[in-house]
Amino acid sequence: MEDKLILEINEKTPIVDLVSEFVSLAKKGKNYMGLCPFHQEKTPSFSVSPEKNIAKCMSCGEGGSPINFYRKIKNISFEEAASILAERAGIEIKTEKVKKDPNTLYYQLMNEVAAFYQFNLKNSEKGQEALKYLYQRQMTDELINHFKLGYAPTHGNTLYQVLKDKKYSVSDMILLGVVKQSDDGSYYDLFSDRIIFPITNPKGEVVGLSGRTMNPKDLVKYVNSPETVIFKKGYLLYHLNEALSDIRMSKQVVLYEGFFDVISSYAAGVKNGVATMGTALTVNQAKLIKSITQSVVVAYDGDSAGLKAIDHAIPVLEKEQLKVEVLTIPEKMDPDDFVKAYGPEKFEMLFGEYTKDAYAFRYDYYKQSKNLQDANDMKAFRRQVMMMLQTSDASVKGYYLQKLAQDLNIPIETLSPRKIENFKEPVIPKIDKPRMLDKYAKAERYLIFAMLRSKKVAEKVIIKLKQTDFAEPLTANIRLNIETYYEEHTELVLEDFLDQLTGEQRTYVETQLLTDMFWVKKLEVSDAEVESYITQIKEANLKRRYEYLKEKIENEENVSSILINERDQIIVQLKHKN
Ligand code: UTP
Ligand code: MN
Repeated sequence: MEDKLILEINEKTPIVDLVSEFVSLAKKGKNYMGLCPFHQEKTPSFSVSPEKNIAKCMSCGEGGSPINFYRKIKNISFEEAASILAERAGIEIKTEKVKKDPNTLYYQLMNEVAAFYQFNLKNSEKGQEALKYLYQRQMTDELINHFKLGYAPTHGNTLYQVLKDKKYSVSDMILLGVVKQSDDGSYYDLFSDRIIFPITNPKGEVVGLSGRTMNPKDLVKYVNSPETVIFKKGYLLYHLNEALSDIRMSKQVVLYEGFFDVISSYAAGVKNGVATMGTALTVNQAKLIKSITQSVVVAYDGDSAGLKAIDHAIPVLEKEQLKVEVLTIPEKMDPDDFVKAYGPEKFEMLFGEYTKDAYAFRYDYYKQSKNLQDANDMKAFRRQVMMMLQTSDASVKGYYLQKLAQDLNIPIETLSPRKIENFKEPVIPKIDKPRMLDKYAKAERYLIFAMLRSKKVAEKVIIKLKQTDFAEPLTANIRLNIETYYEEHTELVLEDFLDQLTGEQRTYVETQLLTDMFWVKKLEVSDAEVESYITQIKEANLKRRYEYLKEKIENEENVSSILINERDQIIVQLKHKN
C-alpha cells in the first residue's frame, strides 16, 4: 500500500472516535485518558491525542496511529485494518488489489444464520422453552447476548426459507452445512430443536455452529456444523475472538473443553476463557494461542478423560514455547459444574490454589495411578517421568530425578540425566477387561471397524443408518466423527482421526475398539456381513422405539394417535422379520 494512501487513511480517521469504540475516555487537558486495553491496570495511562491523532499507553507503550491501534486491538493485519478504516472514511482504494477475503459471502451467510437463530430464541414459542432451559442453567440475558446463543426450530426448513428469501444460493447453504438435501430432493435445516452456539474464527466471523439438545435422552448431545471451507475445528478455538482483549489484558488464556465451561467461567468473572470444543488440542490451536499470548492455563474436566486430555495437550502447548499451567478441578467436576456447586468466588480462588505447573501436574498424574510396590508400575512410572523430562531444562530435570529416586527408593545415580536421551520405549496402555457384548453391540462395533477401514462402506452405512440408530452413545458419536472425517478425506489415517475425538471418545476407541481381537487380527468384514449388521441394528432400534412407545402409551394420558399408530406399525414390522 502506498505511503500517501496510508497517511490519508490515518488523517481521515479521528483517533478519539476510534479508540472510544473500545475504551471509555475522559478529557484531560488537550488529551483524553482511559484504561489501557492492552494491559491490566487500575489507573488510566492510555493517552489519546486528537492533535497528533495518535494513542499511546504511558505504561506499556502499546498504541500508535489509527491503523496501528485498530490492527492491534482487532488482531488483524495492517492491510485489513487499513482497508476497513479506508472504507469507513469513504476513501476508495482502487489502485491496489486489496486482498479481500474470498469467503466474505460465506461469512455473511453464516452471520445471517446465527442472527436468525438468535431471533428465534427470543421471539418464538418454542424459543421460550429453550430460554427457560438456559435460565435453568443459570444463564442471564447478558450472557445469552454476549455468546449470541440461539434456538433452532424443530424439524423443518425455516432457515432454508429465510436464506432463500434473502437470495442466498442453495449450493452455498449446503456447502456451509446449514441446510441438507433429503432423498426426495427437498431441503431441510441441519439443526432441529437445539440451542445454538455460534462459533467464530479468530477475526470474529461466524464460521460454524453447534447445537445442544435439551432432551437428556437424546443420543447426540451436540450436533456440529460439518467441516467446511471456513469451518475447520482444528484451527479454531471457541470464544477466542470475543476474549481477545481479556486475554491481552490478563496476559493469559484459560483453555477449557466445552462451551458451558467457557460461559460459566465468563459469568464467574474469568473472561479470558476459550475452548477446544471436545476434540484433542491440535498444533494449530496451540499456534493460535501463541499468536496472542505467552501463557496458558489448561482447565479441562477433572474426570479421567479430562486428565488424560491434559496430559496430551501439555507437550503440544510446550512445543510452541507457551508457559503452561494446569488447573485441576476438584471432585472430578467440569468447570461449569464447579461454578454451579461452589459459586464464582471459589472458582476464581481455584486459579491460585489449584494450579500446578505442567511438570508437577504430570508427575502427580503419573504417580497417582501406580502402586509403587508393583514392579510393572515402578517401571512404567519411571519411563513416563523420564519421557516427560526429555526436553526439560537442567534444573527441572534435577528436581524431578531426585523426587523420582525418592519415590522409587533407589539411589539417584541410577537415574543419570544422560540416560534420558535413550529413553524411547513406548508406554504400554492399560487395557480394560473386555466385556461380553450382545449381538447388537457387536454389530455396531464391527460396522465401526468396517467404516474406519473403507470410505465406501462408511458412506453406505451413513446413508442407511442414522446417528440415532446406534444404541451406544459412544459408537453413535464415533459414527458421526467418521462421517465428518470422510467429508474431508478419501482415506482414514487412524492417528489423524483419533485427534478429532474428544478425550472420552478417544479413550473408548483406544481401549475398547482397537484392542478388540477382531481389529487386532485385521479380520475382514464382507459386504454381506455389513448388510446383516445394518439390518440387526435397525431391528434393535425398532425394538427400542417399540419399548419407548409402549411405556409412553401405557403411562401417559392423551397420547397422540400418531404414536399409537406408529407402535402398531412397528409390531407388524417386527412380526414380519421373525
Ligand atoms: P461435554 O460433554 O463436556 O459438554 O463436551 P459440556 O460443554 O460440558 O456441555 P454440558 O454442560 O453437558 O451441556 C465438551 C465439548 O465437546 C463437544 C462440545 O464442544 C462440548 O462443549 N462435544 C461434546 C461435541 O462436539 N459433541 C458431543 O456430542 C459432545
Ligand atoms: Mn463438560
